[in-house]
This record gives sequence, C-alpha cells and structure tokens, in this order.
Amino acid sequence: MSSTTGHSALHEASRRRTFAIISHPDAGKTTLTEKFLLYAGAVGEAGAVKARSGRRSATSDWMEMEQKRGISITSTALQFPYRDHVLNLLDTPGHRDFSEDTYRVLAAVDAVVMVLDSAKGIEPQTLKLFEVCRSRNLPVITFLNKFDRPGREALELLDEIESKIGLRPTPATWPVGISGDFRGVIDRRTRIFTRFTRTARGGSIAPEEEVTPDRAAQEEGPSWDRAVDESGLLDAIGASVDVPSFLAGESSPVFVGSALTNFGVRHVLDALVDLAPAPSPRRDSNDVPRPLDADCSAYVFKVQANMDRSHRDRIAFVRICSGVFERGMVLTNSRTDRPFATKYASTVFGAERTTVDLAYPGDVVGLVNATDLHIGDTLYADTPVTFPPIPRFSPEVFALARPLDTGKVKQFRKGLAQLDEEGVVQVLRDPDAAESSPVLAAVGQLQFDVFADRLANEFNAPIEVLSAPYESIRSTDAASAHRLRSIGGIRIMERSDGVMVALFESQYRLARLLVDEPELTLSPITN
Ligand code: G4P
Repeated sequence: MSSTTGHSALHEASRRRTFAIISHPDAGKTTLTEKFLLYAGAVGEAGAVKARSGRRSATSDWMEMEQKRGISITSTALQFPYRDHVLNLLDTPGHRDFSEDTYRVLAAVDAVVMVLDSAKGIEPQTLKLFEVCRSRNLPVITFLNKFDRPGREALELLDEIESKIGLRPTPATWPVGISGDFRGVIDRRTRIFTRFTRTARGGSIAPEEEVTPDRAAQEEGPSWDRAVDESGLLDAIGASVDVPSFLAGESSPVFVGSALTNFGVRHVLDALVDLAPAPSPRRDSNDVPRPLDADCSAYVFKVQANMDRSHRDRIAFVRICSGVFERGMVLTNSRTDRPFATKYASTVFGAERTTVDLAYPGDVVGLVNATDLHIGDTLYADTPVTFPPIPRFSPEVFALARPLDTGKVKQFRKGLAQLDEEGVVQVLRDPDAAESSPVLAAVGQLQFDVFADRLANEFNAPIEVLSAPYESIRSTDAASAHRLRSIGGIRIMERSDGVMVALFESQYRLARLLVDEPELTLSPITN
C-alpha cells in the first residue's frame, strides 16, 4: 500500500477505541449508551432513543437519528466521534443468557465497560460474562451505576468485584454523598471534586462544577469528610488506577455514577479515550503481528442472514485489522482463496443501511451478499494473512430438534445448514447414520430458542426442541472414537467442520475415563 495510505491507517487506528458495554439486563446499558451519545454530541437530547411509553423502540429512533445526524449506527456497531477520537461501540446481545454471539463480540473489541447496578452488584447470570472478559485479559472499565438511588456501599461493591471475578478494582472516581443523596465524584487521580446538578430525567448534559477541597468541606460537610476518608483508605491499600495492569486485564478502573442523571458519564467516556487501548497489530495464525499499516485485512466475527425480510440476504460483519478499507476493493478469503468484491459495504441497523466508503483498523463493516463468508474467515487485499479462529466455548447444553411438519424436510435441512454456519447453534451429526436426528449443542439455552424461532419464521420449518441426555462434550479422534463406541453412555458425533466429538451422558464417566485411560484423546473444545 502507498505510504500515504499506510500513514492514514496508523493515524486513524490511533484515534479508534473499539469496545463493548456488558451488563446484566436492566443495569443500565441502554441508558449509558444514550448518554455516551449525548456527551459525544451525537444527539442533542437523550431520551431520543427511548420510546415515550417507557419501553425501548431503539430501532426506529436510532434510524431517525442516523438520518438526521449522519452518525453511523448499526445493530452491530455504533460509531461516534468524541474528543477527536472515533469510538466504535459493539453491541452485545442483551440477553440474560450467555450465548456464543456475545463471546464473538468480545473477541472483536479491545476493551469493555462493565456496568453494575449499585444496588445489586454482580448478579449470578452475568458472572460468566465477566469471567470471560477476565480470562481473555480484556481491559475492563467498571461503572457502578444508579448511584442516585439508595443502594449498597461502594466499598462493598469493590470487594465483590475482587472476590467474584478476580479483577482488582482501582477506583478512578469516588462518590461524594451516599447513594440516594449523590452529590458528585472526586477524581482520585487529580483530587478534583465535580459536583453535578440534576436535569429533568437526565435529558440534557448535567451542569458540572469543579469545587476546591476547602469549599467542598464547607459546603458538603460530613459527605465530603467521608469521601476523603474512604479515598484515603483506598490510597493506603494501593487501590489506585494502574494502567499496565488495566491493559493486562488484571485491574479495573472504577467509576461511580448514574447514567440516568448523567453523573459521572463524562468520566467514563474520557477513560475510554485516555486509558483504553487503540487497536494494535493483530497476530496471525503463526503468531506474527500484522502491522496496522500493512494492506487491508479483516476478519469475520458475525454472520447474519435474513436480517430483514425485504432483503433476504446474508451479511458478514468484519473488523478491520490493518490498512484502509475502501468500498469496492476486492479482498481474498484466506480459507477459500476466492475473491470477494466489497461493492456492498454498509452499516446496518434494522432495515436501514448506510454505505461505508472507508474504514480503518478497529472499525466494523457489514459486507452484504456474503454467501461464502464464515465466522472466523480472514480477508486480505494484497499480502496473504490468516488470523487464528475465534476461540469458542465448549457447549454446555444439548438438545434434539424434531420437525413438527414432516412435509417440510427440505426447509428443515436448509435451515439447519444455514443456522449452523451462522453459528446460532452447533449441529452435531452421527457420521455413521446420516439420516438420524442431529444433536444441537450450545453454551446457553437461549441459543435453542433463537434457533427454533428462526427455523419457524425464516425457513417455515417449525420444530420442537427436546432435551438431549448429555452432560459433557470432548473432541476426539478416530482411534479413540473406536474405543469410546464400545463404552455405554457415550455417543460419537461430528461437527460440520469435520471435528469428531464424544458426548457423555455422565460427567462422572468422563472423569473416570480421563483417569483410567489417559491415552484416549479427549480434549476440551476451544475451537
Ligand atoms: P439495560 O439496557 O441494561 O437493560 O438497562 P436500561 O438502560 O434499559 O435501564 C433499565 C432501567 O434502569 C430503566 O428503567 C432505566 O431508566 C433505569 N436506569 C438506568 N440507569 C439508571 C440510573 O443511573 N439511575 C436510576 N435510578 N435508574 C437507572 P425503566 O423503568 O425500565 O425504564 P424507564 O421507564 O425509566 O425508561
């Protein structure tokens, strides 16, 4: 690539911050997203994203916003400028249940903002999500939300983060006033107290006032003294923001606030710019970093078909890893060596699409008509590269799909193949009995619901999902499969990519085999 293009890739990459917000449903992810847009100046008034009735109708409102403000929004990635930077906020599915989709999004971001409801702390269903971030060493910024109303003590929440996730919380800001009577925050790094004034339902930016410690002591009295004491205690135990351990995913800068009243929102946005990492060179499957200023490369982290009934097509969402993406360029798929013309590159939101002409490392582009693209595929412009596959979770739940309408076998098969390829569930087949019912495997029950729903609605092949009697799965090989077949309670199946797996009806049987017959290949599934 020309040196000017290489230079612009480097420059633009350094301005990018690509992140996701993760939270338990109702902790405030949508509200915080709106407030980010408000503070970034992308919308004039928050609440534009919420339906008047109180329930969200984000789709239509966002589409309208997109048209009015020219900001690029997709249901997959939201892009907005802030302080001469470009923030890419990738959407994680807002389900209670963990699913593989979420994991793939986490593989495509450089940092996450973890939002906790201060009254609730870490809720069991989302613990796994947070643990995944921790195990992947993703830098995590924590936002203790809803501090405007009575909740738990901030110190207690810090303990919980440390003990449950193993992430060392390092408060960047600390509340002045208790939850329920929240006055503002001290920035522990600068000692500046920012006092906020509420606006009606937080519809506009909260007026902020920087207050000196002397005045704060006079005006806030015991609330101030307490905040200073607690902050001193945090100093004493060394709980101060530490950038290297944050970047290594070991400690997490904590911000206290209220997305509803906008208290502390700006601090989090600033932290994304000041602390979160810019895209860095991605390592290929030989562990060689692909320089950001190399020619364009990208990988597919999500594939979605039939996003809208009126466009029955397939979109592959790619994250740009190096170089400059220019719409119309022809990229090569490293898995198939086949060219892919990027004539239809867009951001997508609901039924609306906006053409993307240029994109840089960290950006997300939706490639339309992506018939041959699979999750994990690498695309490159000139110099060949293959990125490692997106790590997968070992399935934990298993089911059988029984077609309800035997006249729809063709539709059923087509849907099964399509949804398997999209990664909605993993479809396992018996290699020796091609006609037998496949077993569906997933990390969360929700994936089965989505699968059944899409089969019925998009493929007109309604099914009943029945539970399957398996507790564990391991990958294996032909030699071990031969032995395993002779043992009861184990079934040998094959994934569509040819990987052979063993399904165990009992965890105990698996545990015994690992001890008694260590020569057998029984590896945890990571790919
Ligand atoms: P989610 O995307 O994580 O599911 O959460 P969402 O932002 O939709 O917020 C869930 C509820 O919590 C909403 O109330 C929202 O207004 C409220 N909320 C979010 N942030 C704060 C905060 O900082 N303080 C307080 N007190 N409440 C907050 P709702 O009643 O479901 O909807 P609405 O009628 O308020 O729109």
